Amino acid sequence: MLEWFIPPVLIVGAALVPNKKLANWEYNLKHIYKHSWLVPIGKARKVIYHNFEQYPHLLVGGTTRFGKTVFLKSLFTSLLFSNQERVRFIILDLKGGLEFSKYRNIPQVQHFAKDIVDACKVLDHVYKLIKLDEERYLKNNWSNVTDTPIKERTFIIVDEAAELAPKLVNKQYKKYAELAQVYLGEIARIGGGLGYRLIFCTQYPVREAVPAQVKMNMVARVAFRMAERVGSMVILDETGADELEPIPGRAIYKIAEKKEIQCPFINDEMIGRLIYESRKNRNDIKNH
Ligand SMILES: Nc1ncnc2c1ncn2[C@@H]1O[C@H](COP(=O)(O)OP(=O)(O)OP(=O)(O)O)[C@@H](O)[C@H]1O
Ligand SMILES: [Mg+2]
Repeated sequence: MLEWFIPPVLIVGAALVPNKKLANWEYNLKHIYKHSWLVPIGKARKVIYHNFEQYPHLLVGGTTRFGKTVFLKSLFTSLLFSNQERVRFIILDLKGGLEFSKYRNIPQVQHFAKDIVDACKVLDHVYKLIKLDEERYLKNNWSNVTDTPIKERTFIIVDEAAELAPKLVNKQYKKYAELAQVYLGEIARIGGGLGYRLIFCTQYPVREAVPAQVKMNMVARVAFRMAERVGSMVILDETGADELEPIPGRAIYKIAEKKEIQCPFINDEMIGRLIYESRKNRNDIKNH
């Protein structure tokens, strides 16, 4: 209302000040809660949490080098430490296993695949588990895992989902990719209610990389910077990610509304240290 009163030079100056509320920040375990499936995903003014009990699946997309894998690793760390005895991971690290293979031997990681053939075998296994669970739920008259005594949750993390897209893979792998699409679609469609959470991430935000059945069942979306509007449309169903500042870790989190966030920074050294300290503490307690 009083804008006319502010000298123009101050207005221009303010526009040049970096957005302080979206500054870079480091991942810290102080933001997680034991036995909660609320996971810190970024900061706006305050820490923003994603609730995996309310919105079981997450669609993640963005151009290369803007922070998708760092984001996945922060989710992995939060889930691991908030629910050490309750979380299970199935990791499809389709960039040749380069990002997550160092975690494949921790007890919570049940299956790990680094190529499309292995990914299909793992997804086939998950699908069979889902079908068995479905029968168990029917027998017990359960309709959603949140209303059952079951405390365990299984997270299927797919880093570079385009490697499973029939139109984008080499001809020889097309059949595998088609099968993978069916399994992923079923996990998204019926897995959520049974305690399976799909985190589906792609650097190629094109329609062919995100199967319709998966997208349809994913309410929560995270979009990092995209060069093109069409990429934003694929992940968010609206523009916005194409207008983000090109800063690693800057993203839009969308459920009903879009919110701009800065995701926490974490790297393998930090995760390694946290795992080492937690094992050491457990041994110290045992040795007492
Ligand atoms: N939240 C963050 N805060 C600060 N820097 C970040 C953040 N996320 C990522 N970066 C920086 O950006 C680099 C690339 O991040 P990352 O590997 O997660 O990108 P990506 O989107 O997975 O890329 P690609 O599509 O090539 O796999 C990181 O090595 C790190 O230096
Ligand atoms: Mg990556």
